[in-house]
Amino acid sequence: MCGIVGYVGEKKALPILMDKLEMLTYRGYDSAGVAVSENGHFYLKKTKGRVSDLEAIVDRDGVSGTVGLGHTRWATHGEPSTPNAHPHTDCTEKLVVVQNGIVENFWELKQDLMGKGHHFHSETDTEVIAHLIEEYYDGNITTAVNLAMQQMHGSMALLVLHKDEQDTLVAAKMDSPPLIVGFGRGENHVASDIPALLRYTNRIYPLEDGEVATIRRDKVIITNYREPETPRLSPPKVMVINWSPEVAKKDGYEHFMLKEIHEQPTTVNDTLRGRLPETADGMVEIPDLNLTAEEAQRIERLTLVACGTAYHACLVGKYLIEQALRIPVTVDVGSEYRYRAPLIGRNEVMVAISQSGETADTIASMREGMEQGAKVVAITNVLGSSVARLADGVLYTRAGPEMAVASTKAFVGQLVGLHLLTQFLAQHRELPAGMRERLLKMREELWRLPALIERILAESRPVQRLAKAISQQEACFFIGRNLDEPMAREGALKLKEISYIHSQGYAAGELKHGTLALLAPNVPVVALATQRAVYDKSVSNVQEVLARHAWVIGVAHEGDERLTDLVGRENMLTIPQSDDWLAPVLTAVQLQLLSYYTALELGRDIDQPRNLAKSVTVE
Ligand code: M6R
Repeated sequence: MCGIVGYVGEKKALPILMDKLEMLTYRGYDSAGVAVSENGHFYLKKTKGRVSDLEAIVDRDGVSGTVGLGHTRWATHGEPSTPNAHPHTDCTEKLVVVQNGIVENFWELKQDLMGKGHHFHSETDTEVIAHLIEEYYDGNITTAVNLAMQQMHGSMALLVLHKDEQDTLVAAKMDSPPLIVGFGRGENHVASDIPALLRYTNRIYPLEDGEVATIRRDKVIITNYREPETPRLSPPKVMVINWSPEVAKKDGYEHFMLKEIHEQPTTVNDTLRGRLPETADGMVEIPDLNLTAEEAQRIERLTLVACGTAYHACLVGKYLIEQALRIPVTVDVGSEYRYRAPLIGRNEVMVAISQSGETADTIASMREGMEQGAKVVAITNVLGSSVARLADGVLYTRAGPEMAVASTKAFVGQLVGLHLLTQFLAQHRELPAGMRERLLKMREELWRLPALIERILAESRPVQRLAKAISQQEACFFIGRNLDEPMAREGALKLKEISYIHSQGYAAGELKHGTLALLAPNVPVVALATQRAVYDKSVSNVQEVLARHAWVIGVAHEGDERLTDLVGRENMLTIPQSDDWLAPVLTAVQLQLLSYYTALELGRDIDQPRNLAKSVTVE
């Protein structure tokens, strides 16, 4: 999605803006631009392409202005091109605007503005904002932004700078796209994402829906365009982020994705710490989740909602929670949930899962759930994100910033979060015979996971060898049963998004209902067989595939014999022995490595795959 940065202070703005833009490149984008207020003019540069292309046309040292804004664009209205890149200006070129989101009524506004004589130079909805603010400007930029916001519909975050008020940035937010004010000493910052701020400050205020921030060097005033006469928090309530700037660097790894795969032992440890007792006695404590023992007892159904990889975590959660707790679980993708007229039952709790905490469809699903009376809790990775603020309670995964578009450590954090939720609910509910013992034993196993992940990471030669062979293929299938079924989907998503090899994940038993027609000699099929209760059936499915002369890569626990015998040891990836319900965490690591090394072999842009954005803040 688009990225926004801004600076107002005493230092030269341009190098700071360029550094911040560089920190946003991980989000995915197709063009970039900056504008700095300089001696009554704007120094404005923009271009289609990378931030490095922008870097090549700006004069980092030659521009002395101390107030400015910048943008990375991910095209929605109008193709990626230099005219469509932000910032955009009005007819008088007295103001500049950058935006993330969509102005849904831009066409009507544009017709109206053209009727009033405004001339447009791009196909974007953002240029409409510039002309609308121009129309309302009467000596006070905050007032003009408030009035313009009142005329627009949609979901957007924007940042504006006017030539006649050179010491002032105005930031505004409608609905979901994030916009964060960062507080410095004698300077203030704005960014659409925390990593862009980390080098400058860890004191932040994420704007709420409707808020307009007037940002000067020495103060920030927050109002709401829906009630412009009522000043809000002054000064705003500052949050302190404990991520260090170092965690947003590659740290010697070739790609963020590989670094993040290697950070997973730490993610597991950090997410468990202080919440899961290391022994069977002691209570699971997740105070921020804001669920009482009574509520935990009363739950009659859980709805899990998310998008992409986080949705796959939900599917794993369904298998886990239904089997362990016998609570019915419904799982939805965020983009579908609110459009299917969902029914919320009494005593229903919704769990929204999101790494970024900014995914528009997940947020909209939470709102739908809340409107219908559900208690909504979240599993998210970003402190103060929209999801975290909206939810009635939060379980933070402690994965640190995830920079690669492909989600790895956040997914593992989400799986661990779901285990914590299961353990927490279990201690307040009646369980099927033998289940309490299994769950108590699993506490020890959860603590062992970091060491087991380390073992997989220490021996990546088999997965590298298999990835090299997969990279020669045009398609790849992933199959599995029970908890391996969502993991098959996740393996396929990971492979397709970074290698661009067509891949699909299926319930292994479903192949014969259609997909077998696609299997020809040597087509790779990654068969997951980590669930002991359905192992025999998984092996039968592998036999069906082998009978069509496809090439099977097996994934099973160490010590596996039957599958290994069938597919050949050279075609096996193993995971250390663990409880079956923990196998998805270990399988995830093997499948992430398989995708990573396949994409590496193909020379893909691993951290920023084509067409994708790290967080999807539009519908
Ligand atoms: O930030 P979120 O977890 O809400 O993001 C959801 C999806 O956009 C995300 O998981 C996406 O599918 C990843 N690219 C997958 O690797």
